[in-house]
Amino acid sequence: MRIDVLTIFPDYLAPLGLSLIGKAREQGLVELAVHDLRGWTTDRHRTVDDTPYGGGPGMVMRPEPWGQALDAVAAMGAPERPRLVLPTPAGRPFTQAVAHEYAALPWLVFGCGRYEGIDARVAEEARERYDVDEVSLGDYVLNGGEVAVLVVVEAVARLLPGVIGNAQSLDDESHAAGLLEAPAYTKPALWRGHRVPDVLLSGDHARIARWKRDEALRRTRSVRPDLVAALPPGDLDRRDREV
Ligand code: ADE
Repeated sequence: MRIDVLTIFPDYLAPLGLSLIGKAREQGLVELAVHDLRGWTTDRHRTVDDTPYGGGPGMVMRPEPWGQALDAVAAMGAPERPRLVLPTPAGRPFTQAVAHEYAALPWLVFGCGRYEGIDARVAEEARERYDVDEVSLGDYVLNGGEVAVLVVVEAVARLLPGVIGNAQSLDDESHAAGLLEAPAYTKPALWRGHRVPDVLLSGDHARIARWKRDEALRRTRSVRPDLVAALPPGDLDRRDREV
């Protein structure tokens, strides 16, 4: 997969050289480039923002540098048509399903907005050469898209074949089956008076699987009843409904 990131704070993306993503890059599973948007400004002060039409507080990112930058990046991988991901609190929710959708694509380009956002014509005009997707991490406001890009890239890259050693862990984890994951334990079996649930020491794999399912359901019902309500009919067996 190829990933390009456009930002006015390239240093903010430094963690993409570390850990799992860093290794995926070394192995050639992910090809990632971070570009400084100011490289596509033409004035002496390398200005990327201006006051909003219609008034209001804050500044809006100017369309010209974005247009130039998006032209240049699209040309780097032509004729492939990239997905342009614009993180914004006004976007569609970024979920595990969207992460899977992105993981199946050959090329993602991220545009990091700052201030009060990017001039709305940028996303509109980019549709001529990109599939454009505005996504939100959640119902809160960040100072810019950089942190959101770190989140989205991590969620996507770990789904790529070969990035995670044990593919089984992808199947079991939270959200894989629409439920949160059961709690996890390791040695010692007794720690500060707190005991690991006996069933996990039993060696009875069927009982352990049932326990994990029950705990996942209990936890999800308690903190995310919306997820249980959204399960496809038939996903809950009779035993599930008794938990
Ligand atoms: N940029 C600012 N806030 C954001 C959010 N909640 N999600 C994605 N990008 C953002």
